[in-house]
Amino acid sequence: MRLHAVFSLVATLLSSVASASQPEEIQPTTTTLAKRAVPSGFVTTNGTHFQLDGEPFYFVGTNSFWLPLLITESDVDTTFQTMAGMGVKVLRTWGFNAINASEIPYALESGLTYYQVWNNSEWTLNEGPQGLQRLDYVIETAAKYDIRIILTFTNNWYGYGGMELYIYHLLGNENVTHDDFYTNPTVIASYQSYVETIVNRYKNSSAIFAWELMNEARCAGDSLPAGPTCVPGSETLTKWYRAQSDYVRSLDPYHMITTGGEGQFYWADPPEYWYNGTLVSDFNFNGEAGEDFEASLALPNIDFGTYHLYPQTWYPELDYPGSNFSVELWGLGWIGAHANTAAYVGKPLLIEEFGVLGLENKTEIYPAWNASSIRSGIQPWQFGELNLTEDGGNRVIQYTDQIYMGASPNDGFTFYINQTAVWDVFTSAAVVQDYLSG
Ligand SMILES: *[C@@H]1O[C@H](CO)[C@@H](O)[C@H](O)[C@H]1NC(C)=O
Ligand SMILES: *[C@@H]1O[C@H](CO)[C@@H](O)[C@H](O)[C@H]1NC(C)=O
Ligand SMILES: *[C@@H]1O[C@H](CO)[C@@H](O)[C@H](O)[C@H]1NC(C)=O
Ligand SMILES: *[C@@H]1O[C@H](CO)[C@@H](O)[C@H](O)[C@H]1NC(C)=O
Ligand SMILES: *[C@@H]1O[C@H](CO)[C@@H](O)[C@H](O)[C@H]1NC(C)=O
Ligand SMILES: *[C@@H]1O[C@H](CO)[C@@H](O)[C@H](O)[C@H]1NC(C)=O
Ligand SMILES: *[C@@H]1O[C@H](CO)[C@@H](O)[C@H](O)[C@H]1NC(C)=O
Ligand SMILES: *[C@@H]1O[C@H](CO)[C@@H](O)[C@H](O)[C@H]1NC(C)=O
Ligand SMILES: *[C@@H]1O[C@H](CO)[C@@H](O)[C@H](O)[C@H]1NC(C)=O
Ligand SMILES: *[C@@H]1O[C@H](CO)[C@@H](O)[C@H](O)[C@H]1NC(C)=O
Ligand SMILES: *[C@@H]1O[C@H](CO)[C@@H](O)[C@H](O)[C@H]1NC(C)=O
Repeated sequence: MRLHAVFSLVATLLSSVASASQPEEIQPTTTTLAKRAVPSGFVTTNGTHFQLDGEPFYFVGTNSFWLPLLITESDVDTTFQTMAGMGVKVLRTWGFNAINASEIPYALESGLTYYQVWNNSEWTLNEGPQGLQRLDYVIETAAKYDIRIILTFTNNWYGYGGMELYIYHLLGNENVTHDDFYTNPTVIASYQSYVETIVNRYKNSSAIFAWELMNEARCAGDSLPAGPTCVPGSETLTKWYRAQSDYVRSLDPYHMITTGGEGQFYWADPPEYWYNGTLVSDFNFNGEAGEDFEASLALPNIDFGTYHLYPQTWYPELDYPGSNFSVELWGLGWIGAHANTAAYVGKPLLIEEFGVLGLENKTEIYPAWNASSIRSGIQPWQFGELNLTEDGGNRVIQYTDQIYMGASPNDGFTFYINQTAVWDVFTSAAVVQDYLSG
């Protein structure tokens, strides 16, 4: 999830999504790839499903970017205990936390976790107790609870030191665009050097589920616009995904690799809809965001597909008076379009982030989305813990993220164990997934 929602114009498309069962211009290349044999305890893929030690592996996962930001180890333990109680088997969290040198005093005073410090045109690694040792503890503790981690290398958005820090520090802030990140050799070398550090640190661990190249890569970001070479058809992101997944594979032959993308399509004939008297082409299907889900899923070192789902922030008009479309139905169409692609390409598919705002909306919509999307794996955004103790259960972490009366950050999408109807959707889904697994 990004910090600021994109309020793109919008509305309707379920029928066009549902009828688009055959994605265009992709080759089912994966059936011919030789499968790597992985060490025991490592999750891998087998056709359209995940596999662990020779048995199918279906799961309910979740997201928690804030776990490595906790100061108190016992709070990390408590959180994993609650997660394991819900039946969670996979946790996605950030493998990045970057600041600049002028933020060090604030970080030291507030206890903020940071792994990278940018100073002029270089970053240095923080392997100290407020640095990567916190991530070490999260990964070790995950292993104790039989939970595996999807670790993301950087962020399209500014939150916790995203990719634009590389651009500002290495290229300056004049004449730069967001997508310089994908093409500038200096930036790519710096990103790869961080990726190498993280991969080498954890590559022996079976607690890593998969490496993830970026959270929600797009042509544009929070502060920098897209440049003229990141446009529909330029395949800028697909080429970057290919080069970076090949690079990670050269460092680590065994763990799975995925994009971390929202799953936007680049269709020749994207859905259009009428909005307030104007015919609008849908940014989730016309390639404008930058991704080409079909092409990226077909890449040889992208092991499974990811997509995200936030109809309310993407399409605020849904469910409003005058609209003939609902959040729930749009979501089902989006789920179906990805399921079709994954089946065609022959790889597993993970709905790795999704959310709606409001407890009643969650209670009503999640069961329908669960039933239709559960397949390989399902990961709601985001997990909430109620029993945090640090700073007496009240601590501002960063931005608007805070622990309040023991509750982990609540961005409106967070669900907690006390919200029984929502919680039960996932605990019962976890029982189903367990039953399907070996
Ligand atoms: C892949 O899964 C199928 C069906 O579950 C199974 O028969 C086959 O042995 C698996 N292949 C490998 C290499 O584990
Ligand atoms: C460092 O980060 C702070 C806070 O985000 C920002 O105000 C400042 O401009 C940054 N300094 C440099 C040199 O990038
Ligand atoms: C940042 O770099 C400058 C010189 O390039 C150096 O004087 C300063 O000590 C550095 N700051 C930190 C926190 O490393
Ligand atoms: C930015 O572009 C303008 C116009 O091409 C040029 O005059 C200026 O020198 C450039 N600045 C940098 C830092 O490259
Ligand atoms: C990972 O395992 C290899 C082979 O067993 C070993 O040589 C290497 O030292 C290990 N690395 C770490 C970081 O534990
Ligand atoms: C809809 O279009 C009308 C006429 O062009 C315009 O006045 C109005 O601001 C638009 N409303 C929205 C919500 O865009
Ligand atoms: C909504 O209305 C438009 C215009 O009449 C139509 O094209 C579209 O199919 C409708 N969508 C649904 C889901 O009914
Ligand atoms: C529930 O969803 C509807 C439709 O998107 C929205 O208008 C409403 O604000 C949501 N409820 C809450 C509490 O966010
Ligand atoms: C979640 O989906 C699975 C598979 O369709 C279904 O068996 C299960 O009942 C669903 N759980 C809930 C709470 O909707
Ligand atoms: C965690 O908090 C919940 C809600 O306040 C409470 O019911 C539960 O007993 C707590 N669990 C532990 C282990 O303290
Ligand atoms: C559950 O806990 C959260 C976080 O403390 C709180 O906001 C909410 O009111 C509690 N109860 C329910 C039913 O959501």
